[in-house]
Amino acid sequence: GVGGRGVPHSSPPWGGAGRPLGRSAASGGYRRYAWTGADADCRLWFRMQAEARRLDVETDRNGNQWAWLGDPTAGDAVVTGSHLDSVPDGGAFDGPLGVVSAFAALDELRARGASFRRPLAIVNFGDEEGARFGLACVGSRLTSGQLTKEKAYELRDADGITLPQAMEAAGHDPETIGEDRERLDRIGAFVELHVEQGRALDLSGDAVGVASAIWPHGRWRYDFHGEANHAGTTRLVDRRDPMLTYAETVLAARREAELAGAVATFGKISVEPNGVNAIPSLVRGWLDARAADQDALDAVIAGIETAARDKAAAHGVDLAVVRESFTPVVEFRHALRDELVRLLGGKAPVLGTGAGHDAGILSASVPTAMLFVRNPTGVSHSPAEFAAEDDCVAGVLALADVLEGLACH
Ligand code: GLV
Ligand code: MN
Ligand code: MN
Repeated sequence: GVGGRGVPHSSPPWGGAGRPLGRSAASGGYRRYAWTGADADCRLWFRMQAEARRLDVETDRNGNQWAWLGDPTAGDAVVTGSHLDSVPDGGAFDGPLGVVSAFAALDELRARGASFRRPLAIVNFGDEEGARFGLACVGSRLTSGQLTKEKAYELRDADGITLPQAMEAAGHDPETIGEDRERLDRIGAFVELHVEQGRALDLSGDAVGVASAIWPHGRWRYDFHGEANHAGTTRLVDRRDPMLTYAETVLAARREAELAGAVATFGKISVEPNGVNAIPSLVRGWLDARAADQDALDAVIAGIETAARDKAAAHGVDLAVVRESFTPVVEFRHALRDELVRLLGGKAPVLGTGAGHDAGILSASVPTAMLFVRNPTGVSHSPAEFAAEDDCVAGVLALADVLEGLACH
């Protein structure tokens, strides 16, 4: 079945009684990481949904799934979709809402009796969140050439499994990954619907909005090397404690972000040897930083690193900083953005976001646009993420209007 060798999926994959795929009973959040059994379940679900609608399904060289209505090679296709993978203990909407809404919008267009003058595709991009291998948007970065095969082969998960090994174990041939101009050249417009990850729509009182821009953002790994020693017997003055430097760096990140009107987060950490009664030898922390413009982001990054180096020197700690990924600012194409606003009756609010998306990656190569659906709490990357059913329906109808305007007679 889908998923192939080595990746068992639970059966039936969608549980019959509506059991959510990849959901942790303990946390209530989703753990759908790239090339795992839960990912295989999602891919099978996608294939079943596509086949039930008589769409032609293909998995491209980079593991992205496409469901086609019309000739994929005809060119100028209208593509919609998002991703089905999740962050650790993610919510139900980030990603899946865009894929589910795409299928539902197609149903709506068929119910309207629409006839298509351009090919239409629904896409499930692989590994958008980067939860397992540390780099976000791997599927769309590979396809657009922003991630090379060589760099992708260096990616490893926490267990040391490389990306190609994980692909292979899931039944996907990693040999042919890399830039795929041919597939990009088929796309005339890509529209991604996504749950909003802030409260702008809640505050403006709108169910649906249109994206203007994505903040520049990146991930930096901070390795603080100190000296392992006994927690009970080592005098404070004799310690080279990397946890201390790490803690001061977290505070510096908060301070620099406040100064620049940006955001900076240490959300992941690993400690060696990770013993309660041992001073650590190594603390590794991952910094996620984002700002409205490049200058503000540069200032935040420089300020945090300077503070970290000062503290490291004072504590006898060695610091190495590695930039693991970076995505420059994305201004969505004004023509397509304005067309979406027009197709939605001219009143949809236009808003920016600090969250990354495959639409942002693709926008370097093809015209892209995004629709956001109201999130009344703004909470995302958490099991508490929410969108009301009425708003989700409004999102589907908005997407159907947009697709109809772009792809139909
Ligand atoms: C993806 O959701 C990101 O913005 O990190
Ligand atoms: Mn996300
Ligand atoms: Mn997402």
